[in-house]
Amino acid sequence: MAAGGATEPVGKRQENIEPYYVPLGNEVAIFTRCHEGRLGVMLKGPTGCGKTRFVEHMAWRLGRPLVTISCHDDLTASDLVGRFLIRHDGTVWQDGPLTRAVRDGAICYLDEVVEARQDTVVVLHALTDYRRILPIDKTGEVVAAAPGFQLVISYNPGYQRMLKDLKPSTRQRFVALDFDFPPPDQEAAIVAHEGGTDRATAHELVTLGHRLRALRDRGLEEVPSTRLLIAAGRLIASGIAVREACYVALVAPLSDDVTLVGAMRDLVDATFV
Ligand SMILES: Nc1ncnc2c1ncn2[C@@H]1O[C@H](COP(=O)(O)OP(=O)(O)OP(=O)(O)O)[C@@H](O)[C@H]1O
Ligand SMILES: [Mg+2]
Repeated sequence: MAAGGATEPVGKRQENIEPYYVPLGNEVAIFTRCHEGRLGVMLKGPTGCGKTRFVEHMAWRLGRPLVTISCHDDLTASDLVGRFLIRHDGTVWQDGPLTRAVRDGAICYLDEVVEARQDTVVVLHALTDYRRILPIDKTGEVVAAAPGFQLVISYNPGYQRMLKDLKPSTRQRFVALDFDFPPPDQEAAIVAHEGGTDRATAHELVTLGHRLRALRDRGLEEVPSTRLLIAAGRLIASGIAVREACYVALVAPLSDDVTLVGAMRDLVDATFV
């Protein structure tokens, strides 16, 4: 893999503990039907709203290994498919993470797929239609996907590149599930569970989160995700004073603009009087 591409070894099943996931709609049933029907799935939604957690949960539910590949613009088709390695005793072929996932019937999760170049993404095409094959040009092998193999891609609309940058021929190979921040009660349950705070504090953090998200209309480009609310919750649970935890975990990461930071800190103070 090129630097920056994170993969997990195939076969390393998620520990047998259920990854905590609070369903927000019918996404579990739809994903399950897609898995059974051999359809690829595209997860759309802002950063920190639960896309990765959902895939981890679904891999666990369906009893499949999960291979995660973080896409970036240096990612090449060889990084996905594999390459010849030169060794002292000759040249050996080494499967890339996509090929291993195809052989092993894993769920292959390509995170932030729009970051990858078109010529890289094209290797997915024969896997996502009726053929379910991966042709490996360099060896001449055509690998048929093992049962259980499924492609899942994610991307963040409005962030860096837009959906239109995914070619229609790629886009139209996936069922798309829209993700967004959870409704207040569910988000509070998640913050309490993941952050380790009591319910009352989790609710207050979620209220603050909503107030901060409303600043989008006043020019705040990045709004706090569930992930940031959890980070603030963790600090609070570990003994950091509530307002200070919110300043460092929720306010400071979001903006360097003095006026916006001031407005956010005022909202913290108004929420936790
Ligand atoms: N519905 C949910 N159920 C349980 N936990 C959730 C849920 N939504 C968000 N979380 C929590 O929020 C954290 C961030 O979610 P996750 O990492 O899945 O976001 P993401 O959408 O993959 O973000 P990114 O686009 O930045 O990769 C998770 O680690 C988890 O603790
Ligand atoms: Mg993610």
